[in-house]
Amino acid sequence: VTHALIFQQLFECQSSTYTYLLADDISKEAILIDSVLETVDRDLALIRELGLTLKYVLDTHIHADHVTGAGEIRKRTKAKTVVSKKANVDCMDIPFSEGDEISFGPFKIKALFTPGHTDSCLSYYCEGMIFSGDALLIRGTGRTDFQGGSAEALYDSVTLKLFKLPPETKVYPAHDYKGFTTSTIETEMKYNPRLGGGKTKDQFIEIMADLKLAYPKKIDVALPANKACGIVE
Ligand SMILES: [Fe+2]
Repeated sequence: VTHALIFQQLFECQSSTYTYLLADDISKEAILIDSVLETVDRDLALIRELGLTLKYVLDTHIHADHVTGAGEIRKRTKAKTVVSKKANVDCMDIPFSEGDEISFGPFKIKALFTPGHTDSCLSYYCEGMIFSGDALLIRGTGRTDFQGGSAEALYDSVTLKLFKLPPETKVYPAHDYKGFTTSTIETEMKYNPRLGGGKTKDQFIEIMADLKLAYPKKIDVALPANKACGIVE
């Protein structure tokens, strides 16, 4: 039997977040990456319609811009929540670190520790795709001025880890604000204006220091909620 990977990219328009559904077409086992509380109903309806069984709901990091759907999904399914061990989230089922894997059908998804946007960010690799969270965005990166962020750490995470993946690896970030849906490692190595085209660590640190970004709109609600797996009291 040849198993095929079911893959669907979903979008939440208030926070411009991508949620990813991956599943095995034969066993019907599924995983969800970076779910958003507001779109839990949509995601669970889709999973039902496709006849899938959700095994895991993963977050790439503790999001500051939206509340995760992980806790709500766990309440309504048998799915287990997966978050970076370093995030110190007490309610998580599976604390994940560099190299940790989970499987759905014959497919495996593997964690890479890619700190810098936050001090506990993970990226997830599966079948030629990297789910890069807010570490590597399409022609951009996540900000590094909150949540234990560090431009220096982010530069190392992207250039020493993500850019070492095969060049044709497809990049699927946690957000896009310009309408891009995907990129490749090769394209970002060439054209990412912050750390592609051979930009040095010093150049990147300067770029990040000069961004002058606004205070994240939802951070005061989202961080405490996400530390509780998204269950808002
Ligand atoms: Fe983020």
